[in-house]
Amino acid sequence: MKFIDINTEYKIFKKDIDFSLKKVINKSNFILGPEVKKLESKLKNFTGSKYCVTTSSGTDGLLLALKALNLKENDEVIIPDFAYVSPAEVAALLKLKIKFVDVDYDTFLIDPMKLKKKITKKTKVIIVVSLFGQCPDFSKIKDLIKNTGIILIEDAAQSFGAKYKNLNSCNIADISVTSFFPTKTLGSFGDGGAVFTNKKKIFQKIFFLRNHGQTKKKYIHNYVGLNARLDTIQAAILLVKINKIKKLLRLRNLKAKNYFSKLKDNKKIILPKIMKNNYSSFAQFTIKTRYRKKLINIFNYYKIPFTIYYPKVLSEQKPYKQKNINNVSKILSKHSISLPFSPWLNKKDQNRVIKAVNKL
Ligand SMILES: Cc1ncc(COP(=O)(O)O)c(C=O)c1O
Repeated sequence: MKFIDINTEYKIFKKDIDFSLKKVINKSNFILGPEVKKLESKLKNFTGSKYCVTTSSGTDGLLLALKALNLKENDEVIIPDFAYVSPAEVAALLKLKIKFVDVDYDTFLIDPMKLKKKITKKTKVIIVVSLFGQCPDFSKIKDLIKNTGIILIEDAAQSFGAKYKNLNSCNIADISVTSFFPTKTLGSFGDGGAVFTNKKKIFQKIFFLRNHGQTKKKYIHNYVGLNARLDTIQAAILLVKINKIKKLLRLRNLKAKNYFSKLKDNKKIILPKIMKNNYSSFAQFTIKTRYRKKLINIFNYYKIPFTIYYPKVLSEQKPYKQKNINNVSKILSKHSISLPFSPWLNKKDQNRVIKAVNKL
């Protein structure tokens, strides 16, 4: 059994993917070929966002988003302490001052009450992370920053296809960034990502920065940019998969429902909580347990793959060390464990996982 089964997905869409790939290879249009624009157009349609720029990865998308904001050294950016490293990494690269905020135990998401206490006059950006496929409480967060000029960025690497009160993830914050890492809800065959915004000026800047700061004319560079383009080959694969995204999300939700119903009576674990009016893209199925060591032993014995997202909070990681007392984040790093999960998790394997968890 695979922790995330990406190979079956290829086999199921093989005919369309191979055809799409061959088309690119035959034309050798490898850099910013027509598939890239076509994909951006599909991504805009799906999310409802006005503008979209595909990128070489989600991390590069976050870097471009911050770079487009003309921030100064030591400008403050608030980031959840329990998250993947990318938001902290790009903020540190740009020499911004990071303030880590705690999250909510039930949802793993940024806690608006704790966020309120971290906002100061120096706060320029808040990056929320829609972790494990669920959006945070955007209404409360947006209320907190109304008329402050603070820019809200959604790290939507894990939430492509998710909804918050009928709004699509990637079209709620000022700027949103998703990832097409192979295991994501919309996954390519390598690295890739996309930035979304409804603000024309931000879009234009990101569009230029993605391609060496080159504006209209080739080899004329008006900004210090990056090479952060999505490969045409990846776009060709994603063009096939985006047509299947609703089915992929439905399958994820079905598998999640099965875990919920078969694990609900286990008092030694806590199932993920999806907030009312949220539709999760279930990038992961992450449970919590005070008996994690014991569960890991059971999984090892029964050869059940698992992953710990994330074993250490960001404020305790070597390059980002700060004295933070984000206790909930720290507890989550000790209690969380993610179960095998993908749209293609078969019944037999899922039952094996359920049986093993219920041995706890
Ligand atoms: C929450 C989160 N943010 C950012 C990223 C970075 O995306 P990428 O791997 O495409 O750079 C990831 C991907 O692993 C992620 O899960």
